[in-house]
Amino acid sequence: MTNFSFAVLISGNGSNLQAMIDAIKGNQIYGKICCVLSNKEDANGLQRAQEVKIPTEVVSNKDFETREDFDTEMVRVLSIYNPDLVVLAGFMRILSPVFINAFPGKILNIHPSLLPKYPGLNTHERVLESSDNIHGITVHFVDESLDGGPICAQSSLEITTRSVKQLEQQIHKLEHELYPKVVSWFGEGLLRLTEGKVYFENRELKIGEINEK
Ligand code: GRF
Repeated sequence: MTNFSFAVLISGNGSNLQAMIDAIKGNQIYGKICCVLSNKEDANGLQRAQEVKIPTEVVSNKDFETREDFDTEMVRVLSIYNPDLVVLAGFMRILSPVFINAFPGKILNIHPSLLPKYPGLNTHERVLESSDNIHGITVHFVDESLDGGPICAQSSLEITTRSVKQLEQQIHKLEHELYPKVVSWFGEGLLRLTEGKVYFENRELKIGEINEK
C-alpha cells in the first residue's frame, strides 16, 4: 500500500503506540500514524504522539450518553484523517457496530492473552491463578464480539514467575515486537480480512495457526 497511514486509539500509557512510532523510525513499518485518538485527555500516550508531532484528538466517552453517539463522534473525527487502518492499543472502550462498520476489515486490536483463552480484563492475574504454564498475546481483527474477532497472530512465553507485574512486563515486551510487525504486514498488503476470514499472503489462516514471522 503506498502512503499507508493508520490511526492509533489509546486510553493510557501508550507503550504499544511508542513501539509503532519506533518501528516507523526504524523503517520496520513503511507508513505513518495520521492521528492518535484517546478517550482520556490525560492519557500518557498523547504526549508520546505530541513529542513526534503526530496529530492528537481527544473524544471523551463521558461527553456522550450512548456508546453509539460516542462512536459516531470518533468516526467523524477519524474520517478527517482517512486512515487505511485503525489500531487499538490499550483502548479501553468496547466498540459498537457504528464504529466497526465504518472501518470494515480495517481495525486491529492487541489482547494480552492467548485468545480464545482469557478474553476481558485482568488476564495476567487469571492466568497465574490457573494451572497454565504458557501465556501470550493475540493480535486480531475487531468484530462485534468482545476480544473474539478473527486472529492474525499470536506469540507466547513460558510462565516462569508468580508476579503479575513481572509477567506483565514480559508480555509487554512480546507485544512491542509483534504488534508493529502485524501492522506492517497489513500496510504491505500481506494481511487482510475478507468475509470474516484472515488471509496472509493470499493463504487463509486456519483457526489456531500461530503466525510468528
Ligand atoms: C496492553 O497490554 C494491551 O494488550 C492491552 O492494553 C495494554 C496497553 O498497554 N490491550 P500500553 O498502553 O500500550 O502500554
